[in-house]
Order: sequence, then structure tokens, then C-alpha cells
Amino acid sequence: MENKSGESEFWESAFTDKQEMWGFEPAKSAILTRDLFVEKGVKNMLIPGIGYGRNAQIFRDERMTVTGIEISKTAIEMAEKHYGADMVIYHGSVTDMPFDDRQYDGIFCYALIHLLDSGEREKLIRDCYNQLSDNGYMVFAVISKAAHTYGTGKFISKDRYEMFGGVRMFFYDQASIHAEFDQAGLFEISEVTENYPFFLIKCKKQERA
Ligand SMILES: C[S@@+](CC[C@H](N)C(=O)[O-])C[C@H]1O[C@@H](n2cnc3c(N)ncnc32)[C@H](O)[C@@H]1O
Repeated sequence: MENKSGESEFWESAFTDKQEMWGFEPAKSAILTRDLFVEKGVKNMLIPGIGYGRNAQIFRDERMTVTGIEISKTAIEMAEKHYGADMVIYHGSVTDMPFDDRQYDGIFCYALIHLLDSGEREKLIRDCYNQLSDNGYMVFAVISKAAHTYGTGKFISKDRYEMFGGVRMFFYDQASIHAEFDQAGLFEISEVTENYPFFLIKCKKQERA
């Protein structure tokens, strides 16, 4: 496992310096996921790595209850300021999940899992799956190897590089998505262009017989 206090300091200073660095518009992946969750009747959802909440409001507008997990206290305070203090956001690292014993019928995780090492990624997928109710959906938006930043920066391990002053990123392709998500109800992989090329990974928890 990597040093979580270093990671928390990195994000804390990023939010302190750059504030609402991605603006207030939701990511395209969030809009696509909102549409899926509306279609599937999701009511209670979890957003690990919620940041300052820019992707949360479109789900709340559809009367979904959103709970978040976020490593940066500053980002949580920004979320409270912009979207109200009635949204529960646990302060901590997703590597310490679970933060409650609730089951969620939707989980949306945007641009977070690719920041973790392989053991942490495996644990996050397992922890999210464990907190998903039967027939629930979880959607992960991850950076693709098609990004121009792939292969730049300091090599850490296969497909993982350190860049942007300390962020470690794992770049996904179809094979690594299948390797990590097949066991977690993977049913669809699509491509979405965000600020970088992303994959949208959709999983469903099958009802137990
Ligand atoms: C690339 S940003 C995406 C933020 C947000 N999903 C958005 O687009 O508005 C990653 C987010 O995850 C948070 N984060 C990073 N590592 C984390 C961890 N181990 N546990 C919880 N949150 C983490 C960061 O503070 C940041 O808010």
C-alpha cells in the first residue's frame, strides 16, 4: 500500500491552490451514468472520490440520495458550500472502505480508481461490489492508454506512471479492464472523451439465487 498521508496532502494542496479546478459542469460520464441510473430506478448512491461535488448534483436533481467519500477536507467544505450540508460525505481514503454498513443501488466512481495501486484497485472494486445491493449498478470512469500522457512521466510499474507533480496513474485498456472487473459483474465498456480519453465501465450485481 502507498502512503495515504502523502496522497491526502497532494489533494489537499491541489484544492487549496486551485479551488474548483474542474468548474461546475458535470463530466460527460456523470451525465451518461445519471441517465442509466434514472432508467434503472436507482434511489441511493455512493460517489467515492466525490471531490467538491460537481458530479453529484445531477443525480440529486433526480431525487437520488447521494453519499460521498473524499480524502480532502477542503473539497468537502467546498461541496458543503456549493451544494448544501445535507449531503453526507465521509472524510477519508477509499482504501479504508467501508465507511458505513449500507447497501447502495448505484455507485459512480469518476477518475479515482486509476490513481490507486493494483492491490488498492482490487480492494476498491471488491468493497464497492460488497456495498452494492442485488441488481445494483456500479460505474467507473477511468483514463485510457489512448491518452497522450500515457507512457510519459516516471515509470512505476506496467501501465502506471507518476506525473503532474506527484500523481500516479494507471492507464487502462480492454485487457486490464476485463482482468479487474470481470469478477465484479462487468457488462459494458464504452469510450468517452473527457479532458482525456476515458473508458466507462459498467457492472451489475446479479441477484443471488
Ligand atoms: C481526479 S479527481 C476527480 C474528482 C471528482 N470525481 C470530479 O471530477 O469532480 C479525484 C478525486 O478523488 C479524491 N481522492 C484521491 N485519492 C483518494 C482516496 N484514496 N480516497 C478518497 N478520495 C480520493 C481527490 O481528492 C479528488 O477529489
